[in-house]
Amino acid sequence: MGYKVAIVGATGNVGREMLDILAERGFPADEVVALASRRSVGTEVSFGDKTLKIKALENYDFADTDICLMSAGGDVSREWSPKIGRQGCVVIDNSSAFRYDSDVPLIVPEVNADAVKGFTKKNIIANPNCSTAQLVVALKPLHDLATIKRVVVATYQSVSGAGKDAMDELFSQTRAVFVSDPVEAKKFPKRIAFNVIPQIDVFMEDGYTKEEWKVMVETKKILDPKIKLTCTAVRVPVFISHSEAVNVEFEKPITVEEATEALRAAPGVLVVDKREPGGYITPYEAAGEDATYVSRIREDATVENGLSFWCVSDNLRKGAALNAVQIAEVLVNRKLLLPKSQKAA
Ligand SMILES: NC(=O)c1ccc[n+]([C@@H]2O[C@H](COP(=O)([O-])OP(=O)(O)OC[C@H]3O[C@@H](n4cnc5c(N)ncnc54)[C@H](OP(=O)(O)O)[C@@H]3O)[C@@H](O)[C@H]2O)c1
Repeated sequence: MGYKVAIVGATGNVGREMLDILAERGFPADEVVALASRRSVGTEVSFGDKTLKIKALENYDFADTDICLMSAGGDVSREWSPKIGRQGCVVIDNSSAFRYDSDVPLIVPEVNADAVKGFTKKNIIANPNCSTAQLVVALKPLHDLATIKRVVVATYQSVSGAGKDAMDELFSQTRAVFVSDPVEAKKFPKRIAFNVIPQIDVFMEDGYTKEEWKVMVETKKILDPKIKLTCTAVRVPVFISHSEAVNVEFEKPITVEEATEALRAAPGVLVVDKREPGGYITPYEAAGEDATYVSRIREDATVENGLSFWCVSDNLRKGAALNAVQIAEVLVNRKLLLPKSQKAA
């Protein structure tokens, strides 16, 4: 007897990817239920070789559901996740609503799977921001080797990170430029086609954006509160995969060779680093893949014990859906959650 899993936001970018990943990885589910807003009731989504009809979240009873993969934005999560959790269904939430709650574990399985145990306080587990997920996967083996003191990261984030409407906006603006139509910006604060925008999410009082703040705070919660981190988050006209230029200062000496070896051995990381034209990974190549790719590893001689590298990953997969499914797998594999159907039998 397997698990009953509900996907909230199953018509969205991340929700659809969750359905694909559950099917690809053969997650032990007896039943998968696809939920979204009332607007989408009756529309169909694919799950492996099956088709699921969307049901409305507001009419769904979670009493016999084991796991809810929640991917419908912060407002929906704030309203629904606590109620679903109280019905004994574990919510793995993709929004930022509960990430900074000390009673909610924030998990990237390659980095801090053991912390998942704390989920029983609220029956909620948070998935990090997409830029944080790939960053901590790459930083973890380096931190274990030479203890990270400070990180400076600039992100180059694809439009899919802002949802399906944002992807449509890049497409329609690009088309408008080619046919000389007026370019309309709705989802982004400025035109994104043939442009880059140094603002993701709202501005905070100190001049950082909320996206930058999330990367800083989440890296500390997942990896180590002692790490100092500063971030500049930039939206680029790419459909899928986020890239990051990362500069790291360590407590102890570390060579490029040692870092490369540690990264090659690390779970979830693939090193592609040939010092020749094209000998690195770009977002286009990472789309649809599970790995966090690391390229361009080099010494930063301007500081003591410094390294720089380039890191790329599919934001809809490792940055969201894959990470959420991996968290569900931790619950299952470590027997932290038994199917309700089995308990009832
Ligand atoms: N995209 C990323 O890289 C990424 C990474 C990490 C985390 N996240 C987070 O994941 C969540 C979803 O992102 P996305 O990119 O998939 O967005 P999206 O493509 O815009 O999809 C949003 C989904 O939420 C559903 N929804 C909206 N209002 C709802 C309501 N009142 N009740 C039930 N369902 C509702 C939508 O259903 P309808 O189709 O019926 O409107 C749709 O399925 C967000 O919290 C986002 O911050 C995204």
